[in-house]
Amino acid sequence: MRFAVAFLAFVSVAATVAWMATQETTYAELAPIFAAKCVPCHSPGGSAPFSLTTHEAVRKRAEKVGLMVASYVMPPCQLKSDFGELCSIPRLSFDEIVAIRRWSTSGAPKGRPISVKPPNRKTDWRLGGPDEVLAGGSRVRAEGGAYWRAYIIRIPAGMKNIKAFDVRPAYPPAIRHVLLSIEPEMEARMTDSKLGNDGPGFGTFGSLGPDTQNLVGAWAPGYYKWRLPRGSAIPFQKDRIFVAQVQYNPTGKVADGKFELALYGSRQRENRVPQWLSVGTKAIEIPPVGRKTMRAIKPLTEDIRVLAVHPEARLAAREMMLTAKLPNGNSRKVFGGSWDLYWIGAYNFLNPQRLPKGTMLELTIEYTNGLDAMHTPPQPEKIVYGYGPKDELGWVHLQYIPAK
Ligand code: HEC
Repeated sequence: MRFAVAFLAFVSVAATVAWMATQETTYAELAPIFAAKCVPCHSPGGSAPFSLTTHEAVRKRAEKVGLMVASYVMPPCQLKSDFGELCSIPRLSFDEIVAIRRWSTSGAPKGRPISVKPPNRKTDWRLGGPDEVLAGGSRVRAEGGAYWRAYIIRIPAGMKNIKAFDVRPAYPPAIRHVLLSIEPEMEARMTDSKLGNDGPGFGTFGSLGPDTQNLVGAWAPGYYKWRLPRGSAIPFQKDRIFVAQVQYNPTGKVADGKFELALYGSRQRENRVPQWLSVGTKAIEIPPVGRKTMRAIKPLTEDIRVLAVHPEARLAAREMMLTAKLPNGNSRKVFGGSWDLYWIGAYNFLNPQRLPKGTMLELTIEYTNGLDAMHTPPQPEKIVYGYGPKDELGWVHLQYIPAK
Protein backbone atom coordinates (compact mmCIF):
# COMPACT_ATOMS: atom_id res chain seq x y z
CA MET A 1 0.00 0.00 0.00
CA ARG A 2 0.95 3.60 -0.45
CA PHE A 3 1.96 3.86 3.13
CA ALA A 4 4.95 6.13 3.35
CA VAL A 5 3.75 8.31 0.51
CA ALA A 6 3.41 11.64 2.14
CA PHE A 7 5.22 11.20 5.37
CA LEU A 8 5.93 14.88 5.82
CA ALA A 9 2.33 15.78 5.14
CA PHE A 10 1.36 13.11 7.63
CA VAL A 11 3.58 14.62 10.30
CA SER A 12 2.11 18.06 9.74
CA VAL A 13 -1.42 16.66 9.94
CA ALA A 14 -0.49 14.82 13.13
CA ALA A 15 0.85 18.06 14.63
CA THR A 16 -2.31 19.93 13.76
CA VAL A 17 -4.35 17.08 15.20
CA ALA A 18 -2.49 17.30 18.48
CA TRP A 19 -2.98 21.04 18.57
CA MET A 20 -6.71 20.79 17.94
CA ALA A 21 -7.32 17.77 20.14
CA THR A 22 -9.07 19.86 22.73
CA GLN A 23 -12.27 20.03 20.69
CA GLU A 24 -14.39 16.90 20.44
CA THR A 25 -15.57 15.75 17.04
CA THR A 26 -18.34 13.17 16.76
CA TYR A 27 -19.27 10.65 14.10
CA ALA A 28 -22.49 12.59 13.51
CA GLU A 29 -20.45 15.57 12.34
CA LEU A 30 -18.20 13.47 10.12
CA ALA A 31 -20.95 11.31 8.62
CA PRO A 32 -21.53 13.62 5.61
CA ILE A 33 -17.82 13.37 4.74
CA PHE A 34 -17.83 9.57 4.98
CA ALA A 35 -21.07 9.50 2.97
CA ALA A 36 -19.64 11.59 0.13
CA LYS A 37 -16.05 10.37 0.01
CA CYS A 38 -15.93 6.80 1.38
CA VAL A 39 -19.36 5.16 1.24
CA PRO A 40 -19.64 5.19 -2.60
CA CYS A 41 -17.02 2.41 -2.48
CA HIS A 42 -17.29 1.26 1.14
CA SER A 43 -20.87 -0.08 1.07
CA PRO A 44 -22.50 -3.38 0.07
CA GLY A 45 -21.90 -4.05 -3.61
CA GLY A 46 -19.15 -1.40 -3.77
CA SER A 47 -15.53 -1.78 -4.84
CA ALA A 48 -14.08 -1.78 -1.32
CA PRO A 49 -13.89 -4.98 0.73
CA PHE A 50 -15.85 -3.65 3.75
CA SER A 51 -18.60 -1.13 4.54
CA LEU A 52 -18.21 2.19 6.32
CA THR A 53 -21.92 3.03 6.46
CA THR A 54 -22.50 3.10 10.23
CA HIS A 55 -20.81 4.50 13.31
CA GLU A 56 -20.12 0.96 14.52
CA ALA A 57 -18.42 0.01 11.23
CA VAL A 58 -16.13 3.05 11.18
CA ARG A 59 -15.39 2.89 14.93
CA LYS A 60 -14.24 -0.73 14.59
CA ARG A 61 -11.57 0.41 12.10
CA ALA A 62 -11.07 3.90 13.50
CA GLU A 63 -7.30 3.65 13.85
CA LYS A 64 -6.79 2.35 10.31
CA VAL A 65 -9.22 4.93 8.93
CA GLY A 66 -7.31 7.77 10.59
CA LEU A 67 -4.01 6.42 9.32
CA MET A 68 -5.23 5.85 5.76
CA VAL A 69 -6.68 9.34 5.37
CA ALA A 70 -3.74 11.10 7.01
CA SER A 71 -1.22 9.26 4.84
CA TYR A 72 -3.18 10.15 1.68
CA VAL A 73 -3.97 6.53 0.84
CA MET A 74 -7.76 6.83 1.06
CA PRO A 75 -9.76 7.86 -0.83
CA PRO A 76 -7.50 6.32 -3.47
CA CYS A 77 -7.73 8.96 -6.18
CA GLN A 78 -4.96 11.30 -4.96
CA LEU A 79 -3.49 12.78 -8.11
CA LYS A 80 -4.01 16.48 -8.68
CA SER A 81 -4.79 18.57 -11.71
CA ASP A 82 -5.45 22.21 -12.53
CA PHE A 83 -8.08 20.87 -14.96
CA GLY A 84 -10.43 20.06 -12.05
CA GLU A 85 -10.89 16.95 -9.92
CA LEU A 86 -9.67 13.82 -11.65
CA CYS A 87 -12.22 11.56 -9.99
CA SER A 88 -15.89 11.73 -9.17
CA ILE A 89 -15.07 10.90 -5.54
CA PRO A 90 -12.75 13.75 -4.65
CA ARG A 91 -9.88 13.91 -2.20
CA LEU A 92 -10.39 15.00 1.40
CA SER A 93 -9.58 18.58 2.29
CA PHE A 94 -6.88 19.23 4.87
CA ASP A 95 -9.54 20.18 7.45
CA GLU A 96 -11.49 16.99 6.77
CA ILE A 97 -8.36 14.87 7.24
CA VAL A 98 -7.62 16.66 10.51
CA ALA A 99 -11.19 16.15 11.75
CA ILE A 100 -11.24 12.43 10.92
CA ARG A 101 -7.82 11.84 12.42
CA ARG A 102 -8.76 13.73 15.59
CA TRP A 103 -11.95 11.72 15.91
CA SER A 104 -10.17 8.41 15.30
CA THR A 105 -7.59 9.07 18.00
CA SER A 106 -10.03 10.28 20.65
CA GLY A 107 -12.31 7.29 21.17
CA ALA A 108 -14.37 7.67 17.96
CA PRO A 109 -17.47 9.07 19.77
CA LYS A 110 -20.87 8.73 18.17
CA GLY A 111 -22.74 11.96 18.90
CA ARG A 112 -26.42 12.13 17.96
CA PRO A 113 -27.78 9.10 16.05
CA ILE A 114 -27.39 9.51 12.33
CA SER A 115 -27.67 7.14 9.41
CA VAL A 116 -25.73 7.21 6.16
CA LYS A 117 -27.66 6.01 3.16
CA PRO A 118 -25.67 3.56 1.04
CA PRO A 119 -25.87 4.32 -2.68
CA ASN A 120 -28.67 2.67 -4.61
CA ARG A 121 -26.87 0.19 -6.84
CA LYS A 122 -30.05 -1.18 -8.35
CA THR A 123 -30.26 1.81 -10.67
CA ASP A 124 -29.50 1.35 -14.32
CA TRP A 125 -26.40 2.42 -16.20
CA ARG A 126 -25.29 5.89 -15.23
CA LEU A 127 -25.03 7.05 -18.83
CA GLY A 128 -28.56 5.91 -19.69
CA GLY A 129 -29.69 2.94 -21.76
CA PRO A 130 -26.75 1.49 -23.74
CA ASP A 131 -26.90 0.45 -27.39
CA GLU A 132 -25.25 -2.88 -26.57
CA VAL A 133 -24.13 -4.72 -23.46
CA LEU A 134 -21.25 -7.17 -23.95
CA ALA A 135 -19.56 -9.55 -21.52
CA GLY A 136 -15.95 -10.32 -20.62
CA GLY A 137 -13.72 -11.56 -17.82
CA SER A 138 -13.14 -14.82 -15.97
CA ARG A 139 -12.26 -16.03 -12.48
CA VAL A 140 -10.00 -14.06 -10.16
CA ARG A 141 -7.26 -15.78 -8.16
CA ALA A 142 -7.76 -15.89 -4.41
CA GLU A 143 -4.24 -14.88 -3.39
CA GLY A 144 -1.28 -12.81 -4.54
CA GLY A 145 -0.86 -9.27 -5.75
CA ALA A 146 -2.95 -7.41 -8.32
CA TYR A 147 -2.49 -8.71 -11.87
CA TRP A 148 -3.73 -7.97 -15.40
CA ARG A 149 -5.62 -10.09 -17.88
CA ALA A 150 -6.89 -9.09 -21.30
CA TYR A 151 -10.06 -10.36 -22.99
CA ILE A 152 -11.00 -10.30 -26.64
CA ILE A 153 -14.59 -9.13 -27.19
CA ARG A 154 -16.30 -9.05 -30.56
CA ILE A 155 -17.54 -5.66 -31.80
CA PRO A 156 -21.33 -5.84 -32.37
CA ALA A 157 -22.15 -5.97 -36.08
CA GLY A 158 -24.88 -3.33 -35.74
CA MET A 159 -22.62 -0.62 -34.29
CA LYS A 160 -20.64 1.84 -36.41
CA ASN A 161 -18.71 3.69 -33.72
CA ILE A 162 -18.22 4.21 -29.99
CA LYS A 163 -18.67 7.48 -28.11
CA ALA A 164 -19.00 6.25 -24.52
CA PHE A 165 -18.74 3.10 -22.45
CA ASP A 166 -19.34 1.93 -18.91
CA VAL A 167 -18.42 -1.19 -16.95
CA ARG A 168 -20.28 -3.16 -14.31
CA PRO A 169 -18.19 -5.81 -12.50
CA ALA A 170 -19.95 -8.94 -11.22
CA TYR A 171 -17.93 -8.62 -8.00
CA PRO A 172 -16.67 -5.03 -7.67
CA PRO A 173 -13.84 -5.54 -5.10
CA ALA A 174 -12.05 -7.84 -7.57
CA ILE A 175 -11.72 -5.30 -10.42
CA ARG A 176 -9.49 -2.23 -10.13
CA HIS A 177 -9.74 -0.92 -13.64
CA VAL A 178 -10.54 -1.80 -17.23
CA LEU A 179 -8.65 -0.36 -20.21
CA LEU A 180 -10.57 -0.74 -23.45
CA SER A 181 -8.84 -0.76 -26.84
CA ILE A 182 -9.71 -1.56 -30.42
CA GLU A 183 -7.07 -3.83 -31.94
CA PRO A 184 -6.48 -5.56 -35.29
CA GLU A 185 -8.34 -8.86 -34.87
CA MET A 186 -5.67 -11.15 -36.36
CA GLU A 187 -2.94 -9.85 -34.07
CA ALA A 188 -5.14 -9.92 -30.98
CA ARG A 189 -6.17 -13.50 -31.69
CA MET A 190 -2.55 -14.53 -32.23
CA THR A 191 -1.51 -12.99 -28.91
CA ASP A 192 -4.45 -14.68 -27.25
CA SER A 193 -3.51 -18.11 -28.58
CA LYS A 194 0.17 -17.58 -27.76
CA LEU A 195 -0.28 -16.36 -24.18
CA GLY A 196 -3.75 -17.50 -23.24
CA ASN A 197 -3.35 -21.21 -22.56
CA ASP A 198 -4.40 -20.89 -18.91
CA GLY A 199 -8.11 -20.14 -19.26
CA PRO A 200 -10.05 -17.32 -20.90
CA GLY A 201 -8.06 -14.19 -21.79
CA PHE A 202 -4.30 -13.71 -21.66
CA GLY A 203 -1.88 -12.23 -19.12
CA THR A 204 -0.36 -8.77 -19.59
CA PHE A 205 1.61 -6.38 -17.42
CA GLY A 206 -0.47 -3.24 -17.51
CA SER A 207 0.09 -2.55 -21.23
CA LEU A 208 -0.73 -4.34 -24.44
CA GLY A 209 2.40 -2.83 -25.98
CA PRO A 210 3.71 0.40 -27.44
CA ASP A 211 0.74 1.24 -29.66
CA THR A 212 -1.44 3.50 -27.58
CA GLN A 213 -3.31 4.86 -30.61
CA ASN A 214 -5.62 1.84 -30.27
CA LEU A 215 -6.69 2.72 -26.75
CA VAL A 216 -10.29 3.84 -26.35
CA GLY A 217 -10.36 4.81 -22.68
CA ALA A 218 -10.45 3.57 -19.11
CA TRP A 219 -12.96 2.67 -16.46
CA ALA A 220 -12.31 2.49 -12.71
CA PRO A 221 -14.47 2.87 -9.61
CA GLY A 222 -14.63 6.53 -8.68
CA TYR A 223 -13.42 7.78 -12.08
CA TYR A 224 -15.43 9.97 -14.40
CA LYS A 225 -16.89 7.95 -17.23
CA TRP A 226 -15.17 7.86 -20.59
CA ARG A 227 -17.55 9.79 -22.80
CA LEU A 228 -16.52 11.84 -25.83
CA PRO A 229 -17.89 15.34 -26.34
CA ARG A 230 -20.76 15.95 -28.73
CA GLY A 231 -19.77 15.56 -32.38
CA SER A 232 -16.97 13.06 -31.77
CA ALA A 233 -16.76 9.27 -31.85
CA ILE A 234 -14.31 6.49 -32.71
CA PRO A 235 -15.40 4.60 -35.85
CA PHE A 236 -15.05 0.82 -35.99
CA GLN A 237 -12.83 -0.21 -38.89
CA LYS A 238 -12.97 -3.59 -40.57
CA ASP A 239 -11.29 -6.60 -38.95
CA ARG A 240 -10.97 -4.97 -35.55
CA ILE A 241 -11.91 -6.32 -32.16
CA PHE A 242 -12.15 -5.01 -28.62
CA VAL A 243 -9.49 -5.95 -26.13
CA ALA A 244 -10.47 -5.22 -22.53
CA GLN A 245 -7.49 -5.24 -20.19
CA VAL A 246 -8.58 -5.81 -16.62
CA GLN A 247 -6.60 -5.24 -13.45
CA TYR A 248 -7.72 -7.92 -11.00
CA ASN A 249 -7.31 -7.57 -7.28
CA PRO A 250 -7.29 -10.90 -5.37
CA THR A 251 -9.52 -10.66 -2.30
CA GLY A 252 -8.71 -13.84 -0.36
CA LYS A 253 -11.19 -16.10 -2.13
CA VAL A 254 -11.62 -17.11 -5.76
CA ALA A 255 -13.98 -14.49 -7.16
CA ASP A 256 -16.13 -13.90 -10.20
CA GLY A 257 -14.09 -11.55 -12.40
CA LYS A 258 -16.66 -11.18 -15.14
CA PHE A 259 -17.99 -7.80 -16.15
CA GLU A 260 -20.58 -6.22 -18.38
CA LEU A 261 -19.43 -3.65 -20.91
CA ALA A 262 -22.08 -1.11 -21.94
CA LEU A 263 -21.51 0.59 -25.30
CA TYR A 264 -22.91 3.83 -26.63
CA GLY A 265 -22.63 4.87 -30.28
CA SER A 266 -23.16 8.15 -32.09
CA ARG A 267 -25.91 8.49 -34.67
CA GLN A 268 -24.35 11.59 -36.13
CA ARG A 269 -22.96 11.08 -39.62
CA GLU A 270 -19.85 13.23 -39.26
CA ASN A 271 -17.75 12.79 -36.17
CA ARG A 272 -14.38 14.07 -35.10
CA VAL A 273 -12.09 11.21 -34.07
CA PRO A 274 -10.02 11.63 -30.89
CA GLN A 275 -6.31 10.86 -31.02
CA TRP A 276 -3.53 10.23 -28.54
CA LEU A 277 -0.29 12.12 -28.23
CA SER A 278 2.54 10.85 -26.05
CA VAL A 279 5.06 12.67 -23.90
CA GLY A 280 7.92 10.57 -22.60
CA THR A 281 11.15 8.85 -23.52
CA LYS A 282 12.72 5.48 -24.13
CA ALA A 283 15.93 6.76 -22.54
CA ILE A 284 15.23 5.30 -19.11
CA GLU A 285 18.11 3.91 -17.10
CA ILE A 286 17.79 3.62 -13.36
CA PRO A 287 21.02 2.55 -11.66
CA PRO A 288 21.09 -0.48 -9.33
CA VAL A 289 19.81 0.52 -5.89
CA GLY A 290 19.63 4.13 -7.03
CA ARG A 291 17.40 6.97 -8.18
CA LYS A 292 16.76 8.79 -11.39
CA THR A 293 14.65 11.71 -12.54
CA MET A 294 13.46 11.58 -16.12
CA ARG A 295 12.31 14.64 -18.06
CA ALA A 296 10.63 14.81 -21.45
CA ILE A 297 9.21 17.71 -23.43
CA LYS A 298 6.72 17.86 -26.26
CA PRO A 299 5.57 21.02 -28.05
CA LEU A 300 1.98 21.26 -29.24
CA THR A 301 1.75 22.03 -32.95
CA GLU A 302 -1.99 22.77 -32.91
CA ASP A 303 -4.75 23.87 -30.52
CA ILE A 304 -6.20 20.86 -28.75
CA ARG A 305 -8.89 19.92 -26.28
CA VAL A 306 -7.65 17.33 -23.78
CA LEU A 307 -10.20 14.61 -22.94
CA ALA A 308 -8.25 12.08 -20.93
CA VAL A 309 -4.81 11.31 -19.60
CA HIS A 310 -3.27 7.85 -19.51
CA PRO A 311 0.01 7.62 -17.60
CA GLU A 312 2.21 4.59 -18.13
CA ALA A 313 4.97 3.68 -15.72
CA ARG A 314 5.72 0.69 -13.55
CA LEU A 315 7.09 -0.40 -10.23
CA ALA A 316 10.06 1.96 -9.93
CA ALA A 317 8.12 5.19 -10.59
CA ARG A 318 7.49 7.23 -7.45
CA GLU A 319 6.28 10.67 -8.48
CA MET A 320 4.96 11.93 -11.78
CA MET A 321 4.04 15.41 -13.00
CA LEU A 322 2.86 16.64 -16.37
CA THR A 323 2.92 20.42 -16.71
CA ALA A 324 1.65 22.53 -19.60
CA LYS A 325 3.76 25.66 -20.12
CA LEU A 326 1.49 27.97 -22.07
CA PRO A 327 2.75 30.41 -24.71
CA ASN A 328 1.66 33.33 -22.47
CA GLY A 329 4.14 32.22 -19.79
CA ASN A 330 1.58 30.66 -17.46
CA SER A 331 1.86 27.09 -16.28
CA ARG A 332 -0.88 24.53 -15.66
CA LYS A 333 -0.61 21.19 -13.92
CA VAL A 334 -2.22 18.66 -16.26
CA PHE A 335 -1.94 16.01 -13.57
CA GLY A 336 0.52 14.58 -11.13
CA GLY A 337 1.40 13.36 -7.68
CA SER A 338 2.60 10.14 -6.17
CA TRP A 339 2.47 7.15 -8.49
CA ASP A 340 0.93 3.79 -7.66
CA LEU A 341 0.82 1.30 -10.50
CA TYR A 342 -1.93 -0.62 -8.76
CA TRP A 343 -4.34 2.30 -8.55
CA ILE A 344 -3.75 4.25 -11.72
CA GLY A 345 -5.16 3.52 -15.16
CA ALA A 346 -6.35 6.56 -17.06
CA TYR A 347 -8.28 9.62 -16.06
CA ASN A 348 -11.15 11.12 -17.99
CA PHE A 349 -11.59 14.84 -17.49
CA LEU A 350 -15.12 15.86 -16.67
CA ASN A 351 -14.72 18.89 -18.93
CA PRO A 352 -12.34 18.85 -21.91
CA GLN A 353 -9.53 21.39 -21.43
CA ARG A 354 -8.13 23.59 -24.13
CA LEU A 355 -4.38 23.91 -24.69
CA PRO A 356 -3.13 26.29 -27.39
CA LYS A 357 -0.55 25.65 -30.09
CA GLY A 358 2.92 26.46 -28.81
CA THR A 359 2.26 24.94 -25.37
CA MET A 360 5.20 22.92 -24.05
CA LEU A 361 4.17 19.72 -22.32
CA GLU A 362 6.77 18.86 -19.70
CA LEU A 363 6.83 15.47 -18.04
CA THR A 364 8.91 14.69 -14.97
CA ILE A 365 9.04 11.23 -13.45
CA GLU A 366 11.07 10.31 -10.40
CA TYR A 367 12.13 6.69 -10.25
CA THR A 368 13.67 4.78 -7.44
CA ASN A 369 15.33 1.41 -7.41
CA GLY A 370 15.71 1.47 -3.65
CA LEU A 371 13.97 0.71 -0.40
CA ASP A 372 11.55 3.58 -1.01
CA ALA A 373 10.17 1.80 -4.09
CA MET A 374 6.52 1.07 -3.57
CA HIS A 375 5.97 -2.54 -4.52
CA THR A 376 9.37 -4.01 -5.24
CA PRO A 377 12.70 -4.50 -3.43
CA PRO A 378 15.85 -2.87 -4.92
CA GLN A 379 17.03 -4.65 -8.07
CA PRO A 380 20.74 -5.56 -8.34
CA GLU A 381 20.79 -4.66 -12.05
CA LYS A 382 19.98 -1.36 -13.68
CA ILE A 383 16.36 -0.98 -14.82
CA VAL A 384 15.85 0.09 -18.44
CA TYR A 385 13.01 0.99 -20.82
CA GLY A 386 10.86 -1.86 -22.10
CA TYR A 387 7.61 -3.79 -21.87
CA GLY A 388 9.03 -6.87 -20.11
CA PRO A 389 8.18 -7.60 -16.46
CA LYS A 390 11.49 -6.17 -15.15
CA ASP A 391 11.46 -3.07 -17.36
CA GLU A 392 10.26 0.44 -16.77
CA LEU A 393 8.20 2.90 -18.78
CA GLY A 394 7.76 6.65 -18.71
CA TRP A 395 4.89 7.93 -20.81
CA VAL A 396 1.92 10.14 -20.41
CA HIS A 397 -0.56 9.81 -23.23
CA LEU A 398 -3.15 12.54 -23.76
CA GLN A 399 -6.36 11.86 -25.60
CA TYR A 400 -7.46 14.94 -27.47
CA ILE A 401 -9.45 16.37 -30.31
CA PRO A 402 -8.19 19.30 -32.35
CA ALA A 403 -9.82 22.53 -31.15
CA LYS A 404 -11.19 24.77 -33.85
C1 HEC B 1 -12.81 4.49 -5.15
C2 HEC B 1 -13.18 3.60 -4.09
C3 HEC B 1 -12.80 3.92 -2.66
C4 HEC B 1 -13.02 5.09 -1.96
C5 HEC B 1 -13.71 6.34 -2.45
C6 HEC B 1 -12.52 4.86 -0.62
N1 HEC B 1 -11.98 3.61 -0.53
FE1 HEC B 1 -11.11 2.81 1.13
N2 HEC B 1 -10.66 1.12 0.07
C7 HEC B 1 -11.01 0.88 -1.24
C8 HEC B 1 -10.51 -0.43 -1.64
C9 HEC B 1 -10.70 -1.09 -2.99
C10 HEC B 1 -9.82 -0.93 -0.52
C11 HEC B 1 -9.09 -2.28 -0.38
C12 HEC B 1 -7.64 -2.08 -0.27
C13 HEC B 1 -6.98 -2.13 -1.59
O1 HEC B 1 -7.45 -2.89 -2.42
O2 HEC B 1 -5.98 -1.42 -1.79
C14 HEC B 1 -9.93 0.07 0.53
C15 HEC B 1 -9.35 -0.07 1.78
C16 HEC B 1 -9.55 0.80 2.84
C17 HEC B 1 -9.06 0.60 4.17
C18 HEC B 1 -8.24 -0.59 4.67
C19 HEC B 1 -6.82 -0.41 4.25
C20 HEC B 1 -5.94 -1.54 4.73
O3 HEC B 1 -4.78 -1.57 4.31
O4 HEC B 1 -6.39 -2.37 5.52
C21 HEC B 1 -9.48 1.66 4.94
C22 HEC B 1 -9.23 1.88 6.41
C23 HEC B 1 -10.22 2.54 4.05
N3 HEC B 1 -10.25 1.98 2.79
C24 HEC B 1 -10.81 3.73 4.43
C25 HEC B 1 -11.42 4.62 3.55
C26 HEC B 1 -11.94 5.91 3.94
C27 HEC B 1 -11.94 6.44 5.37
C28 HEC B 1 -12.42 6.50 2.82
C29 HEC B 1 -13.04 7.87 2.67
C30 HEC B 1 -12.30 8.96 3.21
C31 HEC B 1 -12.21 5.56 1.71
N4 HEC B 1 -11.59 4.44 2.20
C32 HEC B 1 -12.57 5.81 0.40
C33 HEC B 1 -11.74 1.71 -2.06
C34 HEC B 1 -12.14 2.99 -1.74
